[in-house]
Amino acid sequence: MQEERILVIDYGSQYTQLIARRVRENKTFCEVLQPDNIQNLENFNNVIGIILSGGPNSVSQNNEYDLPDQLFLKDIPVLGICFGMQLICKKFNSKIKKSSSSEYGKAKLKVKKNTEIFNGLSETFEVWMSHGDSVVSLPDNFSEIASTNSESISAVKLNDKEVYGIQFHPEVTHTLDDGKIISNFIHRICDSKGLWTTKNIIDSQIIKIKDTVKSDNVILGLSGGVDSSVAAAILHEAVKENLTCIFIDNGLLRLNEKEQVQDGFKDFKNIKIIYVDASKVFLERLEGITEPEEKRKIIGKTFIDVFQTESKKIKNAKWLAQGTIYPDVIESAAASDKAHLIKSHHNVGGLPENMELKILEPLRELFKDEVRKLGLELGINKKLINRHPFPGPGLAVRILGEVRQDYADILRQADNIFIQLLHEKDLYDKISQAFTVFMPVKSVGVTGDGRSYGNVVSLRAVKTIDFMTAKPFEFPFNFLEEVSTRIINEVPEISRVCLDISSKPPATIEWE
Ligand code: XMP
Repeated sequence: MQEERILVIDYGSQYTQLIARRVRENKTFCEVLQPDNIQNLENFNNVIGIILSGGPNSVSQNNEYDLPDQLFLKDIPVLGICFGMQLICKKFNSKIKKSSSSEYGKAKLKVKKNTEIFNGLSETFEVWMSHGDSVVSLPDNFSEIASTNSESISAVKLNDKEVYGIQFHPEVTHTLDDGKIISNFIHRICDSKGLWTTKNIIDSQIIKIKDTVKSDNVILGLSGGVDSSVAAAILHEAVKENLTCIFIDNGLLRLNEKEQVQDGFKDFKNIKIIYVDASKVFLERLEGITEPEEKRKIIGKTFIDVFQTESKKIKNAKWLAQGTIYPDVIESAAASDKAHLIKSHHNVGGLPENMELKILEPLRELFKDEVRKLGLELGINKKLINRHPFPGPGLAVRILGEVRQDYADILRQADNIFIQLLHEKDLYDKISQAFTVFMPVKSVGVTGDGRSYGNVVSLRAVKTIDFMTAKPFEFPFNFLEEVSTRIINEVPEISRVCLDISSKPPATIEWE
């Protein structure tokens, strides 16, 4: 099915995944690769275009990323963005100047020459710049096709080939091109057939799963999150009753989690979901533990123990399906390269190799938004699909210090009120992630005529694209007052509601 693909070479730009998503939005499959792959292009079949990303490096100071001759000998179109354009220009001996000040932010671009890449765009439009080095003059075989008000060259084309460089970032929405630049590259220049559609993805995945699994049994750890739910849905479609999903209640789930999962899959005939209430063992093992990493480790280990016990009950199980998605794959590939930049998550789903099960990852090539579309197309209900992410260790990262059953119960109630109100006031879908955090401290309150001491909770709501950086969501004040009043009135153990307005970085989204 992936007859045609675009390769996105990642030089470390914060926008690389965004470039890849923009390509996919244009119904074209793409892969994000580390720079060394460009030296061995023969390893990749059916490549219809190559995009070189931006990055934090400077071509004037760094030779590590020199482009190979063979990149330009083939007739594959190339688009270099920012650092990518400078790499192309450097390869062809253009003059590049290390600027004393960077060009950053909005700029007015003036198109100087008609080319396919700017097809359908007006002569001037606003673009988003972010660069230090500048290309200041070009060799004869190159044309300058656009510039901003500044002195440097903003877009170039190799005269006799479909090789383009643009200094600004067409992948971000601050560039007001209506998505045309990337679309022009993919459709007009690379001639994509546009076959990467939800229906095609599902059809080809089903064939692939059937061919791989044959009549073996498959097990899957279902968490209620989007990824494992969609993996379950597509596997069910492919192998029907040979799939068994195991849903483990670790005592750290949100209110009514099990019911929400049941509801999400209500249209799936005969899907086998085994619900295991293991909350007792999890909470017992967490007793007295306050150190965050230790809490995570205990939860991870306990999950493995419980999962192993349950999976042994399923006869002839040869496959373990996991909801790994493409950003996980890219990040682990990049992590070996730039480990310091990557945040590692201690996912509870990690299972030991001695389980002797072969791994099946049907969503390995998909971004989250594609996974969501697939889920809807496969018939999972919208509410489950559009839920905010929920971390593997669950409420353990939202209860500071020791995790206790009573704390988890109080937090569940408060969080449920917050989330319900977000739905009622149509705010839920405007927020990337919202939840409540429990603090094991007591603060004074007045109830009736007496003083009382109750716990403190904090509301957290953020907006983010990639969860690597995040901004606090700006609530209308009357909404906050309503949440606070309702939590304090309806959850007697709570005397005070706070709001977390920290950005990430330096704060994280979860409190741990
Ligand atoms: P932080 O707190 O690091 O979280 O800013 C970023 C995003 O990751 C989620 N998160 C996790 N997800 N397993 C997960 O599956 C984990 O152990 C885990 N820890 C944090 C967090 O909810 C947020 O969306």
